[in-house]
Formats: sequence, structure tokens, C-alpha cells
Amino acid sequence: MKTLIKNGSVYDSKNGLAGKYDILIEGKKIYAIEAEIKNQSYQVIDAEGKIIIPALIDMHTHLREPGYEEKETVKTGSEAAAAGGFSAVAAMPNTKPIADNPAVVEHMKHKAETAAVRVYPIGSITQDSKGEVLSEIGTLAKAGVKALSDDGNPVMNSEIMRRAMEYASAFELPIIDHCEDENLSQDGVMHEGYYSTIFGLKGIPAAAEEIMVARDIVLAEMTGIHLHIAHLSTEGSLNLVKEAKTRGVNITFEVTPHHLLLTDKIIEDYNPDAKVHPPLRSKRDKDILVKALKDGEIDVLATDHAPHTFEDKLGEFDYAAFGISGLETALALLYHNFIKTEIIDWDDLLRMYYYKPGEIMKIESEGLKAGARADLLIFDPEREWTVDKKKFKSKGKNTPFAGQKLCGKNEITFVGGKLVYDDRGGRNEILY
Ligand code: DOR
Ligand code: ZN
Repeated sequence: MKTLIKNGSVYDSKNGLAGKYDILIEGKKIYAIEAEIKNQSYQVIDAEGKIIIPALIDMHTHLREPGYEEKETVKTGSEAAAAGGFSAVAAMPNTKPIADNPAVVEHMKHKAETAAVRVYPIGSITQDSKGEVLSEIGTLAKAGVKALSDDGNPVMNSEIMRRAMEYASAFELPIIDHCEDENLSQDGVMHEGYYSTIFGLKGIPAAAEEIMVARDIVLAEMTGIHLHIAHLSTEGSLNLVKEAKTRGVNITFEVTPHHLLLTDKIIEDYNPDAKVHPPLRSKRDKDILVKALKDGEIDVLATDHAPHTFEDKLGEFDYAAFGISGLETALALLYHNFIKTEIIDWDDLLRMYYYKPGEIMKIESEGLKAGARADLLIFDPEREWTVDKKKFKSKGKNTPFAGQKLCGKNEITFVGGKLVYDDRGGRNEILY
């Protein structure tokens, strides 16, 4: 079966592409990309006026299976990813049980075989992510984890983190670091600052993140490991990482769309869907992250897709679960707010949301070229739509962007040559 995608504007400067090309897909691979490919009774998709780029790689998602299938499963999470324009996601280990042993990793890999997109497992740093005893890092590496993380929880004990880094470096695995000093964050529910005082809610200071970023830079320097800071959210953290890079520390970091777009002020209506870890920060933090985005300083964009049930988010703000369901809004939010406004371009997006995550996790990310895996998306830059959580493929409807009007939407996702998501004419269909 051959599919010919005609007349699209194709962006992938790493493969020398910027402009109109036809793309021929055969089986799992891209067969040819040329200025014009004549239709020889292939199945044709007309992409006139549409953008074509490699489908994105999200290196920070929570798929909740096993153990919290009411929040999400590998199937529903992967379908949300396909709808959002992703061909691959990395799944955080904070399932029940935690992915601290090969059996849970094998379970995930087994579920991944029938998922809509590729799903890569991340193993935990410590047993049960309690920060006390190291996981079996060697056996996790052998089972195929792409990184180690206790995401959701910090590794509070510096000695344990040091040993984790030494093991991780022996197995050439990056550590994805959830930076939070629990003694400082305690039972905080939002960013500590002007608004937490006004709203009467317990704050989480920027220092809770920054102290751990600083500590782990020191430990990364000592052990030579590749340290990747998860969901970096403050000016101070950014300065620490930038300074560490100038010293040659092997460090990268990611920023989420919600930290680039929202601030702590949004908590004024006590919407539990805006409650997240790390919390939405001050306007100054947000503006500085956007400047870093513009200046090309951000390594990776990632959703931190954290689906929860309606009940988990119910009740008083203080008791609602932390997390935002992000896979189905990330690309459109980034396009609407940053690409359309020319703060970044498509190639910047690909650097942060495809090439770099691929490089960090050592997963195939060749982009668009003949012979490469046909993982691509077709984006309609003109389409106006409203974020409607009822239409989410994810079980997690917890988005603070509900009701937002956006211009630009992912319309088609191909994963390994298969058309897995089709939203032409608003079909919103998963096909695999
Ligand atoms: O908001 C968050 N939710 N932050 C985390 O670090 C964990 C995540 C979750 O697992 O729900
Ligand atoms: Zn997370």
C-alpha cells in the first residue's frame, strides 16, 4: 500500500526541507520526498495549505498503567498522543506498582505493542520511588528503559542521588530529575508569592525547585552523568542550568507548555485543573521562560501529561490532585502562541520537540527523508477550534485550557507508515 501526500509545506531543515514537497509512503517507511511525485494510483492525501513535519516525541508523560487505569491506560494515553501529533511518548514510572523492576517494564512494553504510538518505558531511580533504596538499575537498563526518574517525587537523600547517578552513568541512562525540596514545598498547593497570600493558599517557593537543581548540578558534575531537569519552572532554575552549561556540565532541561503560558494568577477562581507540580509560577518566571524559548535556550518541550479522574480533582483546591492533561493541546497551544506569532519557527519546534528528546533517549529520530520511518503529522494552520475536553481521547479531562479558542490544529498523524489519527472535517478518529 502506497500513500502519496501531495502539495504540503514540509519543514525539516535537518533534512534540507523547507517548502512544497510531495511525500510517498510505502509500508512503514518514507519512500520518496520530491518536488513533485506523479500519482500512479496511490492513495492520495491532498495537503494543500497544510504543514507537514515529523510527528513529535514527548519525553514526559504519565500513562498510569498498571494500577491507575481509571485515570489513563497505555491505550487511551497513546490515542491522546496520536491525536496531539505525537508518534512516541516516554512513560513515567509512577504507576502502581512503580516501574522499579523489570516485570513492570515488561508489562508496559507488552501494552505498548498494541498502542497507537510508540511508548518507551522510564524506570524509577529508587524502589517504590521512595528515595530510600536504589532500584535495580542494571536490570532496568537490560529491560530497555530509556531513562531513570522518580518523577512525582524528589530523591531527597543526596547520597542516594549520587549513587543513582553513578549507576545510571555506568548504564548510559539519563536521569530525569523532579527537583523539589520537600522540606520547603511541604503541603504547598500553588506558587508562593503575592497571589498565594491573596488567595490564602499554602505556597511552594521557587527555592524548593532551585535548591534541588543546584544540588543535582553539583552531583552531575561530580559523576559526569547526563542530567535532564524535568519541568523547569523558575528564573532561578534557568540561571543555574545556563551557568552549569557554560562550565560544560552534561545537563539539559525541559519546559512544559503550561509553564510557558499560564501564571499563578489563574488560581484566582480556584480551578483544580490549574493545580500542578511544579506550580504555575509568577508572570516574571513565565516571561523569562518565554524569552529563553525565543532565544533558543530551551532544550526540550514536554507535556508532563498527568491525567486524573474528575473525582481526583473534585472538592477543595487544597485536596485536588496535581497535574494537567496535556497531550491533546500541546502542539496547538505552541503553534497558536509561539509559531503563529513568530516567536519560534517550525524548525525550532522540531529541535525541542523531536530531535533533542530523540537524542536524549537514544530513540530513532531521523526526520523526514527517504528510507526513514514514516512518522509525520499534517497540521492545518488555519483551522479554528475550541478546546473541548469532552472530545479528548485521554481519560484525563483535567485541562486549564478548556474553552480556549485556538487557530491551528493537528489533522493527521502517521506512525510507522500507518495513518493512526484522522481529523479531516472534524472526524477526530483513531484508526489502528
Ligand atoms: O503535576 C504533577 N503531576 N506533577 C508531577 O510531578 C507528577 C504528576 C502526576 O503523576 O500526577
Ligand atoms: Zn511528571
